[in-house]
Amino acid sequence: MPKLIVVNRAGEETAVDADEGLSIMEAIRDNGFDELLALCGGCCSCCTCHVHVDPAFKDKLPEMTEDEDDLLDSSDHRDENSRLSCQIPLSADLEGIKVTIAEED
Ligand code: FES
Repeated sequence: MPKLIVVNRAGEETAVDADEGLSIMEAIRDNGFDELLALCGGCCSCCTCHVHVDPAFKDKLPEMTEDEDDLLDSSDHRDENSRLSCQIPLSADLEGIKVTIAEED
């Protein structure tokens, strides 16, 4: 069961266990972080699951699709570590990944 570290908007870090195959968005949402709205439920159409991913894991993430890229462009808080957390399935490779919930748009 991969573990991830979630940093909320107050900067507090929490370790969370999640089943492999769940998306990072589902892992965050199911662990009670209400800052991550995930309004579209994971269909890559809302941008409310925006997170900043620890750059150490950048090479292990799935390629960004054009849709994800376009949605992230609509955020004022995009940076080079921005991803939509619903587009990243958890795998053993991502054990210990740290994600910071992005500022609200
Ligand atoms: S939950 Fe809507 S884009 Fe990720």
